[in-house]
Amino acid sequence: MEPFAPDTFGTLNATDYDETQDPGTTDATVDFIYDLMGGTGSALELAIGTGRIGVPLAGRGIAVSGIEGSQDMVDIMRAKPGGADIPVVIGDMADGAIEGTFDHVFLVFNTLFNLLTQEAQVRCFANAAKRLKPGGTFLVETFIPRFDTYIHHQQMKSRTLTRDALMFEAIHHDSATQRLDFQRVHVRADGMTLVPFMMRYAYPCELDLMAQLAGMRLQDRFGGWNKQAFDRESAMHISVYEKPA
Ligand SMILES: C[S@@+](CC[C@H](N)C(=O)[O-])C[C@H]1O[C@@H](n2cnc3c(N)ncnc32)[C@H](O)[C@@H]1O
Repeated sequence: MEPFAPDTFGTLNATDYDETQDPGTTDATVDFIYDLMGGTGSALELAIGTGRIGVPLAGRGIAVSGIEGSQDMVDIMRAKPGGADIPVVIGDMADGAIEGTFDHVFLVFNTLFNLLTQEAQVRCFANAAKRLKPGGTFLVETFIPRFDTYIHHQQMKSRTLTRDALMFEAIHHDSATQRLDFQRVHVRADGMTLVPFMMRYAYPCELDLMAQLAGMRLQDRFGGWNKQAFDRESAMHISVYEKPA
């Protein structure tokens, strides 16, 4: 598959992102970040998208800004109550600049993995550190890759199935590059749509090294938004890094 540009995800997904890709953890994510920030201060969301997290967090009084690769995603946010007031720079989260420094930077919903090389992910950690005030925190949420259900480096599963629609997903895994190539196939009575997607995964210990290269250190790690312990059964992690004061 051809590599993705920062705006490719939005071109393919913006119109139905909120309806079809809700992970069901939005309220818990907003609560977690709000509590981590002590209910005050400024936050920068890398890849703010349609404002799924940024808009409700701003609604609770946090001064939210964003960097986002897709104008199409931001246009959806702009139409939401409060969404027009959030300052956003259209750019690459790996190195995009924005005015000011922040108490907190966050990058949720596996989006770090949208950067398809280790080098780009390392730059993204450096960018987060650069945007933080001394003593500030950088939160990253990603899934923990597991391949026990893969056969011959691939997996196929249906995600939604109703009387008149089916969405299934094929994933190819390349362990040499830590890449996952997805094809989501939507089948309806009026036709079929293909929504491709790519990720470069990394385990938490690799992210800890990226943080270290950026001059940050791990403050806390959880296995879920309700502060579940992180252990070998965890399907995801929320890691909080801090920039020295
Ligand atoms: C899964 S969505 C997450 C959006 C939002 N953070 C949320 O939690 O709902 C991924 C987002 O990353 C954006 N994106 C992908 N690659 C990017 C890049 N290199 N720089 C900035 N944004 C990017 C996409 O446009 C999309 O808005």
